[in-house]
Amino acid sequence: MMRVGMLTSGGDCQALNATMRGVAKTLYNADPDTQIFGFEEGYRGLMYNDYILMKPNDFSGILTKGGTILGSSRQPFKLMRVPGENGFNKVEAMKATYRNLKLDCLVILGGNGTQKTANLLSEEGLNIVSLPKTIDNDIYGTDMTFGFQSAVDIATNAIDCIHTTAASHGRVFIVELMGHKVGWLTLHAGIAGGADIILLPEMPYNFDAVLMAVKQRNKAGKRFSILAVAEGAISQEDAQLSKKEYQKKKANSPFPSVSYELGKRIQDALGQEVRIVVPGHTQRGGSPDAYDRVVASRLGAAAGRMVLEGKYGCMAAFRNNEIVPVPLKEVAGKLKMVDPKSDIIREARDMGISFGNEL
Ligand code: F6P
Repeated sequence: MMRVGMLTSGGDCQALNATMRGVAKTLYNADPDTQIFGFEEGYRGLMYNDYILMKPNDFSGILTKGGTILGSSRQPFKLMRVPGENGFNKVEAMKATYRNLKLDCLVILGGNGTQKTANLLSEEGLNIVSLPKTIDNDIYGTDMTFGFQSAVDIATNAIDCIHTTAASHGRVFIVELMGHKVGWLTLHAGIAGGADIILLPEMPYNFDAVLMAVKQRNKAGKRFSILAVAEGAISQEDAQLSKKEYQKKKANSPFPSVSYELGKRIQDALGQEVRIVVPGHTQRGGSPDAYDRVVASRLGAAAGRMVLEGKYGCMAAFRNNEIVPVPLKEVAGKLKMVDPKSDIIREARDMGISFGNEL
């Protein structure tokens, strides 16, 4: 009979529960006596020994439920191996919980920061199997993260809804989408929603090129333009700044985000009305879509199998439609970014989509 810990850490997304269900069903199917300890609010639960001894029923009826039944938290620590104030050593605390509960392994669902900590715990001798969660799709080593497809659907719907009103009023609309430092979500939703201009962090934009793209549409009698802009998009001038200089500039900017600054510049330059739409956390909410449910179930089942076969120190990853274990040390600390030279960018350009850097 195995004793398995499970936790969800970092920002939530739509298919966390579907993925845990896949893991749990696989483990209970192999041995109905399996004990699953669900740690509450991510690593915090592991650190402070807050857990629920789950029952098979807890994993029923959650395939379509967004969020996470275990709760989540952002990582509450930085220098993870050293004791913090008052001498509390968080890593040792997590190891103690693992040891005291006599766990055989820990299944960890999370994004980049979570994978880094999972790797650290693996290096510290815990048996870890991890799963790639995030709407950002930026986890290194996997073609696909669960949560991504559902977020693409929501972001696409936001762009879809803007088309008619943009056309009626002859306005420029900027739809600002999540994705943290990468542009996967904006790229996919931008293409799916028929955006005219797509701005990504990986491809710093030139303001004159953005303006030219809008002007060309106006000249062609299109009356409106839709820009899908990643929250991490950056201008070519700003991309020249050091990280510190850029952070200072952002902190002193009167604009809440890159879209508002860009919108004001376009409006001032063209005299055409600009509106900003920020779907924000709606992109992480609600039920997983059908595709994500399949991705999550497959990843969950594969992770369950990895637990049963003792393939520890690895993340279950999607590669060429197969699920393979990838060593955590290959994943930790890296970011998967959009390649500006990739086929998808070329194909989008071939269809006339501007990436705001065509001058
Ligand atoms: O990583 C997922 C994500 O939604 C990013 O796209 C976004 O930048 C960030 O989390 C928002 O974080 P929070 O939920 O802490 O506001």
